[in-house]
Amino acid sequence: MEKKAKRFLVANRKGGVLKTSIAVHLADNQARAGKKVLLIDTDSQGNCASRLGFETWDGFGMALITGGDYPDEKIIKEVRPNLFLMAGGDKTAAGKSVLAGAAVTGESSEGYVEKAFSKYDKDYDLIIMDAGPSWDVMNVSLMFWADRVIVPTSTEPDSIEGVVRVAALVPAVKKHNPEFGIAKIVPTRFDSRKTSANEFAAALRRSFGNLVSDTVIRLNEGFVRAQREDKTIYEWSDPKGVQHKKGREDFDSLAKEIF
Ligand SMILES: Nc1ncnc2c1ncn2[C@@H]1O[C@H](COP(=O)(O)OP(=O)(O)O)[C@@H](O)[C@H]1O
Ligand SMILES: [Mg+2]
Repeated sequence: MEKKAKRFLVANRKGGVLKTSIAVHLADNQARAGKKVLLIDTDSQGNCASRLGFETWDGFGMALITGGDYPDEKIIKEVRPNLFLMAGGDKTAAGKSVLAGAAVTGESSEGYVEKAFSKYDKDYDLIIMDAGPSWDVMNVSLMFWADRVIVPTSTEPDSIEGVVRVAALVPAVKKHNPEFGIAKIVPTRFDSRKTSANEFAAALRRSFGNLVSDTVIRLNEGFVRAQREDKTIYEWSDPKGVQHKKGREDFDSLAKEIF
């Protein structure tokens, strides 16, 4: 089968570092740029759907449980022009057990994911997966399936541990897929007025060099306000004209670096 889609996983085992915000906004950005995008929510909390104004449904879990043998129209919805969502829900936990089972019976869990999801490569230009805040068989298998991983990190010291965990796995994944690598490590919730945030970013750059994006996602209340109205930062406008502009600038610039 001809491979067309480039697959990205947004991962860090820490919660609240903007994994979902980055997955949703990069997907929105690229759909607006004319790419056909599949956003896969692999977190049972189902936040991708709610961010886009939908009640979540069991998409990813069903695809996982059935090994990809489930009607697409029941698990994938076009939620914006060019932006297709396979939502996350409660069945994800059962899907995780199926994956763990595959590992036990000798069929590798990453082989299982490959079989279940590679059919989407031909239908989309871009696949973006939002990972849940854990580091388990599922996230590791998804990393094996991905071409690139995007690692958001907030500028608190303990969130670097999540970056280190992802980075430590890269050599093993590269053996399986030589094309694999970190797309960018992205500092998020960045407040330039805080010395600690600037120090954190500098330390991150010393450790990971140009794997760290030049773009930082700035601390921006506008994202929370947009979310309250079920809108992305590209759809929401701040009456004062400031927050949405800043947010869009950050994502335009991050998208340019990554895609
Ligand atoms: N630039 C930002 N500044 C401050 N808060 C943000 C920003 N972007 C998103 N948020 C908010 O931070 C919260 C956590 O983000 P989220 O993307 O859900 O993190 P994760 O998926 O890593 O748990 C959300 O309520 C989101 O609206
Ligand atoms: Mg999330």
